[in-house]
Amino acid sequence: MLNHACLRGMNTRESFEAVCGLIDASEVEFDLLLATGDLAQDGSAEAYRYLADAFNCYRFSTCWIPGNHDHYETMKQHFRAERVVPSKHVVSDHWQIVMLNSTLPDMTHGHISASQLDFLDQALQSCPDKHALVCLHHQARAAGSFWIDDKGLKNDEELRQRLSQHTHLRGVLWGHVHQESQRNIGDVKWMSTPSSCIQFKPGNEEFAIDDRPPGYRRLDLHTDGCIESSVYRLSISQLERLV
Ligand SMILES: [Fe+2]
Repeated sequence: MLNHACLRGMNTRESFEAVCGLIDASEVEFDLLLATGDLAQDGSAEAYRYLADAFNCYRFSTCWIPGNHDHYETMKQHFRAERVVPSKHVVSDHWQIVMLNSTLPDMTHGHISASQLDFLDQALQSCPDKHALVCLHHQARAAGSFWIDDKGLKNDEELRQRLSQHTHLRGVLWGHVHQESQRNIGDVKWMSTPSSCIQFKPGNEEFAIDDRPPGYRRLDLHTDGCIESSVYRLSISQLERLV
């Protein structure tokens, strides 16, 4: 989430820039940035233009999907730059990444439409020899907190059933829940990523802010289909300067 405003006491732009600084400080050569939605708190053209400029400074491309706080039409129009790519199916030598839109206009909860499920099938069937990572905004598996799962993906079972038909699926990644999680089931790693702003307390039945700092998730996609993934967060002293 991003603009000049504060979200629960944290300035969203300052925390975003601090997390970008964390990425800048990494010695890793990244290939791609996956922006998994809720990129602008106010859905304004100004916010998306700012973000496009920020991501365009990187040497790698950014792929994106909208979140429930985004304004999709404004995003499509203004979240554009040379390295901010509109493609929702990215294919490399050994991997493919599919970006699914799970949002519904003016709704907090999510739903994967029939056309998005068809797009998923067509994309994965077009590259059956490549390992697959699928990204969406809402949680593809329950987080275990009633309040946030109540605002989750309403047809998550249908999505998982469709995903189970693709044996080259290796990972599913989402945002929305403002907390990290990682679970291996069979050959698939199911992952949520932390927010670049405030974090939600894992396992809480009611809404609660966690005291963990903002961060990002890094994924290493290996040629054999293995995914190594870790979360990197700001330090406590960096967090204290944000609130
Ligand atoms: Fe969200």
